[in-house]
Amino acid sequence: MSTQALDGKVEGRPRPAPVREARRVWSSNPAVVLWGTMVGTIDSYALFLRTMGEPLFPYGLLLWVVRIVLLVSVTLHVTAAVQLTWMSEAARPHGYDTKHSIATTYAARTMRWSGVILALFVVYHLLHLTAGTVGFQPGTYVPLSVYHNVVAGFSVWYVSLFYVLAMACLCLHLDHGIWSMLQTLGWSDAKATRALRALARGVALVVFAGFISVPVAVLAAWVR
Ligand code: HEM
Repeated sequence: MSTQALDGKVEGRPRPAPVREARRVWSSNPAVVLWGTMVGTIDSYALFLRTMGEPLFPYGLLLWVVRIVLLVSVTLHVTAAVQLTWMSEAARPHGYDTKHSIATTYAARTMRWSGVILALFVVYHLLHLTAGTVGFQPGTYVPLSVYHNVVAGFSVWYVSLFYVLAMACLCLHLDHGIWSMLQTLGWSDAKATRALRALARGVALVVFAGFISVPVAVLAAWVR
């Protein structure tokens, strides 16, 4: 992953901002302006991620802080999951003779698989939309032009399909993960269980719908 691909910089200097101008609308209210541009100003946001904190912090530094926090968080999450699996295996060194799963769900039984697929997805996703090294027709990735890259990237149908399948894994992972977290915090009792399960499922489905709306909108040519 080259420094230029990650930060859109050439020889240490930021590139000229390839920011799309917001379409002019009748209000000066930023929320109304954002709404009026239909797609928001995603390129300005990408530039902001790199320039935030300037001149106190150099270009891209705070973004790297956030990246490192995310990386440490995901590493801790995976480590805790592996340790939990080991503890569970140690608690029952000899497997069940007959195993009929009763109070469990498909999401719960497939947590490890959805987790592994998500980890692979994140690696692909960073190579795809952050570095531009996979999933684009040659020469169609432009550093820092996020709107353009989203349209060019998701116009490749099999890349979009992969994203939708990965988001289905995320949905399953969250469905069980949120419910499990609520139980660990001790918030589930006989009365609240149904409501908390529904809450976890609702959040997972909203996240799924929100994420897949991007590839779906590009493939349907609602966003061009
Ligand atoms: C359909 C679903 C998704 C879409 C359309 C999407 C879109 C994007 C785009 C356009 C970027 C580049 C932003 C930039 O260059 O400033 C990006 C970066 C990123 N996305 Fe996603 N994303 C999706 C799902 C996810 C998921 C599920 C995760 C995490 C589990 C994730 C984590 C990240 C991370 C960590 C970055 C890198 C930011 C950076 O360090 O530069 N994304 N995403």
